[in-house]
Amino acid sequence: MGGFAFHNSRKVENVAMSEWVRLCSRAELPSEGQAKEFSVLGKTLCVATLRGKPHALDNVCPHRGGPLAEGTVEHGKIVCPWHQWEFDLVTGVSTHSRDAKAATYALQQNGDDVLVEL
Ligand code: FES
Repeated sequence: MGGFAFHNSRKVENVAMSEWVRLCSRAELPSEGQAKEFSVLGKTLCVATLRGKPHALDNVCPHRGGPLAEGTVEHGKIVCPWHQWEFDLVTGVSTHSRDAKAATYALQQNGDDVLVEL
């Protein structure tokens, strides 16, 4: 009796998978110097526009959980409304503590849509 064996030769690596998902339309982005909250795939993000470019961070402040999108944009940083810690919009690093870093997310434009890499 003939046999048939199936071998899956694909190597499975233990890496975090990420995907690009639609965040919003370009028209929905915050205006220059403003921040706005967005929810996508169970995450809440703070998106702020600086020099015409949108930046995305986790909306939960790493200090004590304040809502970063309700803060203000000052000197290239988002300022948390609760205790005024500042987080760089590009790196997410706080100026108050090097250990406090907000997660940042890449954005890209696809036609009229803005995509975020989660
Ligand atoms: S919760 Fe954001 S600075 Fe304290």
